[in-house]
This record gives sequence, structure tokens and C-alpha cells, in this order.
Amino acid sequence: MAKNQQAIQAIRGMHDILPEQSPYWQWLEHNARQVLASYGYQEIRLPIVEKTELFKRSIGEVTDIVEKEMYTFDDRNGDSLTLRPEGTAGCLRACLEHGLLHNQSHRLWYYGPMFRHERPQKGRYRQFYQLGVETYGMAGPDVDAEMIQLTDRLWRKLGIRDNVALQLNSLGTTEERAAYRGHLVGYFKQHIDVLDEDSLRRLETNPLRILDSKNPDMLPMLREAPVLLEHLGEESLRHFDSLKTMLDDLGIVYELNTRLVRGLDYYGKTVFEWVTDDLGAQGTICAGGRYDGLIEQLGGKANHAIGFAMGMERILALVEQLDTVNIASSVDVYMIRVGTEAEKAGLLLSEQIRNAIDGLKLQVNCGGGSFKSQFKKADKSGAEFAIIIGEDEAARGEVALKSLRIEQEQVSLTHSALLQILEDWHQNKPLA
Ligand code: HAM
Repeated sequence: MAKNQQAIQAIRGMHDILPEQSPYWQWLEHNARQVLASYGYQEIRLPIVEKTELFKRSIGEVTDIVEKEMYTFDDRNGDSLTLRPEGTAGCLRACLEHGLLHNQSHRLWYYGPMFRHERPQKGRYRQFYQLGVETYGMAGPDVDAEMIQLTDRLWRKLGIRDNVALQLNSLGTTEERAAYRGHLVGYFKQHIDVLDEDSLRRLETNPLRILDSKNPDMLPMLREAPVLLEHLGEESLRHFDSLKTMLDDLGIVYELNTRLVRGLDYYGKTVFEWVTDDLGAQGTICAGGRYDGLIEQLGGKANHAIGFAMGMERILALVEQLDTVNIASSVDVYMIRVGTEAEKAGLLLSEQIRNAIDGLKLQVNCGGGSFKSQFKKADKSGAEFAIIIGEDEAARGEVALKSLRIEQEQVSLTHSALLQILEDWHQNKPLA
């Protein structure tokens, strides 16, 4: 690099996932995939960029996301495009476009980066990964319970179940919310002196979001505010009560949070969040709800939909904090080769080993070096064993094997004896 030239750094709030972290990501992704498969969910892969209009129409014009957080740009044709801030809109767009919602039900999941220009802090990033789940064509509340049931199962699998709690609310129908909105605005106007700047702005545009404020000065007033649940009609209440009964039957404890309204406009009826106290301010690891109305709003026929998304960085932060996961090393066996004949013998033997033992992680030393420097690399790789080939071993058609983790004499072995030992070890190795 020329003098004076500054190294280029990543964009604020957008992070690299380094090799030492990726095994944790793979472990989380693997567990999530397994749980989803065990409930019969299918993967859908979606574009990262969509037309800006899609997000405006679905998330809502007067939400934080659309008003201030989207990465929006004009492409070379002058079309306004946006890096997806979430996956629900794109998933529904794709299903409508491909006619997947005609008299069918679907259970889908997607995974990938989302983009929001928020103020970065611990647990809040500008590029972050979500695993999202969407279902279509089921009126619930049984599928609402299934959403929660499968997340509950995943938390157990990840060993974080004791550190998360479920919050639940119902937002009723559009008409019920409209009627309630009148009561709520009336109440807020009586307490206008307590409202902060953000809330005053929302009073006309999106008063329900005021309920979600974390401003401690407003909390006593918010606690006394009219409750949406008390303004729901019979059908919405029946839906919510049945869901609660199912959760009770499943033994899944929830907390009724009547001020849970969510930051995206498309929700109606069931909404939920999984929260933890262990991550500071950004404690919601997973959130979602029912959004039947969005389907017509995006040009489809009346139908049913419910889904959620989990924030992968937050889940991993929690896992890391609890320190309960033992990730297997990315290398099982390291092959040390010193001398030209040894390098040649090792090259062939390594392929024989890979042919014979499916799944064994074998790293061969490349780039030469003394026994001492290669042993150092073997140790650093995290491998359980080193296979050692020097000129003597190469001449005899043998290898030496040394355990790198327990005190044991190095042994000389024929190739077939080596294969037998590695195969036995690989079969009985504890799973990560
Ligand atoms: P959301 O509540 O905006 O919902 O995001 C879901 C989850 O993504 C959050 O609970 C959090 O774990 C994670 N998350 C959100 N923003 C950030 C950020 N800036 N940095 C790190 N993690 C973040 C949705 O996105 C809806 N599409 C969920 C949904 C699917 N509803 C129905 N279907």
C-alpha cells in the first residue's frame, strides 16, 4: 500500500463474521433448520433488494423503519430501490407473484441479512441477520400457538430457555384498533404535558406506538392508559383466549403485555416477543405476529398470515454470555510432513483417509517448515491428533500418530492401522 493511504474499514454498524465466530453461527443455523424441518417448514430464498414502494406499503409510511431507517437509492434506471429492512414484505410479495396463495397453505422460512440505518449499539446493527418464518392460509389460533411452540423448542435446544420470556398481546382488527385509537388520543391529550417530543409527533400519525415508549417519565401515565384488549370484539377475544389456552396446555408460560404494539404497521390480532434481561437495552431476540390484512394491501385476495423473525446476533450474544456451548474444533487431525518424499506420501495418504472416513476433518500442513514449527501449527489448529511423516516413515510406508490433547507416547503405524484408529475415534467422537 502506498504511504499515506488509509486502510478502508467496514461501514459503521456492519460487521464481519470472522472464522473463529463462524462455527457458532453454523451451530445456530443448523439447530434452527432442524427445528423448522421438524415442523414441516420449507425454505424460501428472496432478493435482498426490493422496490421501495413494497416496504412503504407494508411496513407503513409513518413507522421509524420507513421514515428514517431504510437504505434507499435510485438505480441506474431511476427506479427507487431499498435494501430490505425485514423479510415479511418480500416473502409475501414473492408468494403473491408466484401464485402460491391460491387455496393453499404454506409454512416458510428465510434467512439472511437485513439493513436498517439505526443508531448502532450493542445488539443493534445496520446490517444484521434474521431468520424469519411466515405461514399463509391458516386462520389460527392453532398455527399462532405453533409459532410460539417451535421457538420455545429452539430456545431449549440452544440452552437459553431459562433466560428468555414470552410477551403476548392481541391488536384486534383494523376496525377495533380505529375505535380504540379515538379513546387513546383523547387520553393522551389530557396528559399532553407529559408527552415527549417523539410522542407528540406520533399523537396524530401513530398514537398506538406511544404505548411502546421506554421514556421513564412517561411510564406512570402509560400504565393508566386505556387498554386495547378491553376494546376488542368477540371474535378477536375468542381467538386470543383459544391461543392462551393452547399455550397453557403446552405448559408455555407467557406474560400479557397490553402495551406491546410492535413497530411495523401490518399486525392485527396476535403479537408476541421473546425478551431477555441479559442483553441490556436490545433484549428482544425474536418477534412477530399475525398480519392477515397485509395480503389484500399488497394486492392479494383476503387470506391469513402469521410469522416472526429472530435476530441472530442477539441470540448468539446470549449464548456467548451463558457460555454453555462447546463448539467442536474445525480440525480433527493435522498432518505433519517433513521432506520431499514425506510430502508426496502424505498427499496421497490424506486423500485415502478422506475417502475412507466421511466427515473427518483433516488438515495437511502446506508450505513446509521444521517438525517443531509444524507441531506448533498442529497444536494451534485445535486438532485431536497429529499424523507425522518424516523421511524414515515415508521410506517404510508408515506414519507416526500422536495425540495432541492427552499425554500419550507417539506410535508408529501402518496406513491400514492408522485408518482403523481414526475411524474408531471418529465414530465415537462426542457430537458438538
Ligand atoms: P422486528 O421486530 O423489526 O420484526 O425484528 C425482528 C427481530 O430482528 C428483533 O426482535 C431483533 O431480534 C432483530 N433485529 C431487529 N432490528 C435489529 C437491529 N438493528 N440489529 C440487530 N437485530 C435486530 C420484523 O422484522 C418482522 N418482519 C417480523 C415478522 C415476521 N413478523 C411477521 N413475520
